[in-house]
Amino acid sequence: MNDRFGRTITYLRLSLTERCTLKCTYCRAAEGDCPKKSELTREELLRITRAFAKIGVNKVRLTGGEPMLRRDLLPIISDIRAIPQIQEITMTTNGQHLPGMSTALKAAGLDRLNISVDSLKPEKFAKITGGGSLERVLTGIDEAFAAGFSSVKLNVVLLRGVNDDETEDFIELTKDRNIQVRFIEYMPLGDTDRAEDRVTGAELLQKHPELVEIAPSYKGQPARDYQMPGYVGKVGLIDPMSHRFCADCNRVRVMSDGMLRSCLGCNEEFSLKEALEQPDDDALIEQIQKAIAQKPSTHCFDTGFTAEKTMSRIGG
Ligand code: GTP
Ligand code: 5AD
Repeated sequence: MNDRFGRTITYLRLSLTERCTLKCTYCRAAEGDCPKKSELTREELLRITRAFAKIGVNKVRLTGGEPMLRRDLLPIISDIRAIPQIQEITMTTNGQHLPGMSTALKAAGLDRLNISVDSLKPEKFAKITGGGSLERVLTGIDEAFAAGFSSVKLNVVLLRGVNDDETEDFIELTKDRNIQVRFIEYMPLGDTDRAEDRVTGAELLQKHPELVEIAPSYKGQPARDYQMPGYVGKVGLIDPMSHRFCADCNRVRVMSDGMLRSCLGCNEEFSLKEALEQPDDDALIEQIQKAIAQKPSTHCFDTGFTAEKTMSRIGG
C-alpha cells in the first residue's frame, strides 16, 4: 500500500515485548526494571502480520525490548514464515540470549540478525548496558555465522567521549567476515536529551576518509553504506538527525501493547486492540490502512519533539 506521499509500505517492525535484559544508558536506564505488561499473543501477532501481508508488506523485523525474552519466539517465527507473501524475516537483538540459539532460529525461518553492540571492551560494554556481557554477544555472532547466517549487522550507537574512540576497532571487524557495522546517531527518544554527545555521520567520514560509498542494498534502507577497500564487510551510517531518509521510508511499527506507530519520530499511534476483538480481519485492515494513510512526511525529532515512549518500547 502507498501512503499519501507515494511511499510504498513493505516493511513491518513488530515488537514482541517491552521487556529488556539490559539498561543501556541512552535507552531505558531511567526506567529501572521492566515488569511484564500485557503483550500481543502469538495468535494476535500472526493475525496482524497476515493483515499487513494482505496490503503489501513482505518484510518483518522482530524487535523489542529484547525479542529473545519471548518464550514463544521460535513458534512466532515459524508462524510468520508460513505466510506466503513474507519474503524476509529478520530480528534485532541485544545478543545476550543468542548463544546456543542460532541453529534453532535459522531452522524456524529467521533470515537475518542485527545485533546491538556499543563497545568492544568488556568493562565498557557492561557499563553502557547496565551489566551486559560482551562475551555473549561475540559468541552469538560466531555461532550465527556457523549456523549459516550469511551476514550479521552490528548496531553501534555512538556517543561522544563514551565509545567514539572505538570506531576503528569496529571497522576492523568488517575486514574478513561479512559483518556490517552500522554507526547510529543518537536519537532523542530517552528521558535525557544527549544532543551534545551525538556523533554525526559527517564526523565519522571525516575521521575515516578511506571509506568508499557503495550502493544501498534496498531502497529506503536507513543506512548509507560504505566499505573499506579490500574488506569483505560493510560500514553503514544511520544518521537520521543530520541526514534524514524519511522520503524513502518504507516501514511502520506495531508494538507489543497493540499500538501501531507509522513513524518512529512522531508520537501518533493507532490502536489495533479493538479490531483484534472482531472475528474477521476487515476492521484490522481498515485500521492499518488508516494509519498508513496518515503517516507523516518526516520525523519530528528537530521540532522540539518529546518522545512518549523510549526506543525500547517502540522497537527501534
Ligand atoms: P535492515 O533490514 O538490516 O536494513 O535493518 P534496519 O536497519 O531497518 O533495522 P535495525 O533494527 O537494525 O535498526 C537500526 C537503527 O536504525 C535503529 O537505531 C533504528 O531505530 C534506526 N531506524 C530504523 N528505522 C528507522 C526509521 O524509520 N527512522 C529512524 N529515524 N531511525 C530508524
Ligand atoms: N538513538 C539511537 N539508537 C537507539 N537505539 C536505542 N535507543 C536509541 C537512541 N535513543 C538502538 C539500539 C538498537 C537499535 C534497535 O536502536 O542500540 O541497536
